[in-house]
Amino acid sequence: MTRFDPSGPLRGALRPPSDKSISHRAALIAAMGEGTVQVNGYLDGADTLSTLAAVEKLGAKVVRERNSGSGAVDPPGLTVWIEGVGLRSARSAEIDVGNAGTLLRLLPGWLSGQVGQEWTLDGDESIRRRPVDRISVPLREMGADLSAREERLPPLQIRGARLRGITYEMPIASAQVKSCLLFAGLLAEGETRVVEPLPSRDHTERMLAAAGASIERHGDAVAVRPVERLEPEDLLVPADISSAAFFLTAAALIPGSEVKLEWVGVNETRTGLLTILERMGAQIEREKEFEIGGERVATLRVRTSSLQATKVGGAEIPLAIDELPLVALAACFAEGTTTIRDAEELRRKESDRIETVTAALRALGGKVEPTEDGMVIEGTGGLRGGTIDSHGDHRIAMLGAIAGLASNEGVEVQGMEAAAVSYPGFEQDLALLIVSR
Ligand code: S3P
Repeated sequence: MTRFDPSGPLRGALRPPSDKSISHRAALIAAMGEGTVQVNGYLDGADTLSTLAAVEKLGAKVVRERNSGSGAVDPPGLTVWIEGVGLRSARSAEIDVGNAGTLLRLLPGWLSGQVGQEWTLDGDESIRRRPVDRISVPLREMGADLSAREERLPPLQIRGARLRGITYEMPIASAQVKSCLLFAGLLAEGETRVVEPLPSRDHTERMLAAAGASIERHGDAVAVRPVERLEPEDLLVPADISSAAFFLTAAALIPGSEVKLEWVGVNETRTGLLTILERMGAQIEREKEFEIGGERVATLRVRTSSLQATKVGGAEIPLAIDELPLVALAACFAEGTTTIRDAEELRRKESDRIETVTAALRALGGKVEPTEDGMVIEGTGGLRGGTIDSHGDHRIAMLGAIAGLASNEGVEVQGMEAAAVSYPGFEQDLALLIVSR
C-alpha cells in the first residue's frame, strides 16, 4: 500500500519519461531494417523493455546504455542501438509481450507475411484478457494464418504466409489495428488501405514514411505499398504526453500550482486532454514548440484554475483515449456534471477502465455513474480520499496518486508498482514537484 497525502501546490519543471507509443514503434521498425539505428531516450518502462526483448528474440541485435537524464539531449531512459534483422528475416520464436497491448497488436502485422517461420505471442494475466480478433480478422482477410484461444484471446499463434493487400474499414478507431495492418501491408502484394472511422495517433505512418516506405493518406484512409527494404532513421524520442498528463491534471486541480513539462510530444493526434482541460478552464500554455524527428514537441506550462464540467465524446475520444481516467478525476473537482461517451474502448484497456475508474473515484467520495460507453460524473468540488486498487493498471495507480495529492484526507494505493509499465520513477518525479514548491 502506498500513501499519497494531500499536498501543497506543485511547482517546478521536469521532462517526463519518453513516449511509450513512439518507443514501441521505434524498436519494431528498427528491427525491420538492416542497418543499425540509434534511438535516444528510449522508454525504459516494462512495456517497452518487452518490445526490446521481443526484437532480440526475432534476431535483431540490441545494445543499450542508461542515460543520465540530465536534459533534453540526454533524456531520461535508454540510448539503444538496434541492428535490424531485415523486413523478411525474423526468426521463429515464442514472444512474451508481458503487459504490452501495443506489442501484442503491432508485432503480428510484421510477422504474418514472413513465409516459413512460426511465432507464439503470450503475456501476463491482463494481456490474456485483451482481444486480438480486432487484428486477426483483417489479417486473415489478407491471407494470414493465425490462431487464438477461443478465437479472440492470447496466446496468439502465427504461421508466416503470403499476404495480399486489402481495403479495411476499421469498425473502431484504433491506432494499434491501423499500425498492425500497415506493417502487414509492407509485405503484402498490391496496396493495403486502412480506413479510419476517426483519426487516431499517427506515429507509425510518420516513422514508416521516414524509413522510406510508400505511405499515403487520402482523406480518412492510409495506403501502404510493399517495399523491398526499410532504412529507419536515428531518433530522439519526445516525452510522453500520456505521462505528462498526470502532472498537467494535478497542477490544474491543486490551488497555487504552476508546473512546466518539457520536451512533451504534442502531435495533434495525442493532445485531446489539453483541449478538454482548457475547455474545463485550465490554463495551459505552449512554449518553445518545434519539430524533431517528424514529431512536434513543446514545453507545457500549466496553472491552477477553477474547473467547469464538460461533455466529451466523438472525435475527441481517440485523441485522449489513455487520458480519459484523468478527465473523470478532474470532473470530480469541477462545477457541474461531466459526461464521457463513445468511449466503450475503455473497457478493453489494461483493465476495464470504465469499471476501475468508477470504483476508484467512488471509493474516494466521487459521484460517478458508469454507462455502457463512458461515465457521468457529478462534480462536488473535491474528493474526500480513501483507498483504491490499481487492478494492476499503471494509469489507475497514477490516477490514485494524483487524487491523493488533491484530496482532503489522502489516498492509499494498492498496487502502485504497476506504474513502472509506462512511468518508472513516477513517485520520485512527483516528489520533486512537491518538494520544490
Ligand atoms: C496505442 C494506441 C491506443 C492506446 C494505447 C497505445 C498505440 O490503443 O490506448 O495505450 O501505441 O498505438 P488503441 O489504438 O487500440 O485505441
